[in-house]
Amino acid sequence: MKIIAVISQKGGAGKTTLAVNLAVAAELQDVPTVLIDLDPQSSAKTWHDIRVSKEAPFVVSSQASRLEEVIGASRANGAELVIIDTAPHSESSALAAARAADLVLIPCRPAILDLKAIGTSGDLAALAKKEAVVVLNAVPHQGKLAEEAEEAVRSYGLTVAPVKLTQRAAYVHSLTGGQAAQEFEPDGKAAQEIAELYKWAYTRVHASTLETVRKSA
Ligand SMILES: Nc1ncnc2c1ncn2[C@@H]1O[C@H](COP(=O)(O)OP(=O)(O)O)[C@@H](O)[C@H]1O
Ligand SMILES: [Mg+2]
Repeated sequence: MKIIAVISQKGGAGKTTLAVNLAVAAELQDVPTVLIDLDPQSSAKTWHDIRVSKEAPFVVSSQASRLEEVIGASRANGAELVIIDTAPHSESSALAAARAADLVLIPCRPAILDLKAIGTSGDLAALAKKEAVVVLNAVPHQGKLAEEAEEAVRSYGLTVAPVKLTQRAAYVHSLTGGQAAQEFEPDGKAAQEIAELYKWAYTRVHASTLETVRKSA
């Protein structure tokens, strides 16, 4: 079982959007997935409540102090992937999620205040001794903002995911309706971005296992 934590100290960066979309993408690839919602505002849990097909992915609200037990229960119930959505402004919950994770994703809008905030999220991942990758989110369709943001992210010593999420209404409408982009508009561009991001993240979390196996061989 692999664990991906989605952290960002900035509200509105796209944590829940990313967590929910990756969880559905995994289920569409037949990977049993549990989404753990550590945000007291429970956006992911609310999304699940309005979801017509209540089953997959399984979403559970929890607190950082219970994270280990919930992860244990997910494993016992056959989950192959756990995605942890976290609250902004809560360093303790982000740190607990990062400690549990194989991969930490930091969604970030290409805007100056968001870019300034990723330093803190990067520091939390470093404190947890985990690899953190920034996913640029809500990138405008045109212009050089993404390129400039990438440079700014690298100046913090962080890596940028090769797949970026564009600013698209499909991300907003799908979530409001209890869906993910791939369900809302399967042939749409948002669905395509998510499928690519999931594929990259899947390879990334499994690559670390291969590396460990290689080192211990
Ligand atoms: N790529 C995107 N394009 C358009 N809207 C987005 C995108 N990502 C997030 N949003 C919207 O921005 C708002 C905040 O996103 P959310 O995922 O809830 O952030 P967080 O969980 O980090 O607070 C939501 O209304 C969401 O629908
Ligand atoms: Mg959220």
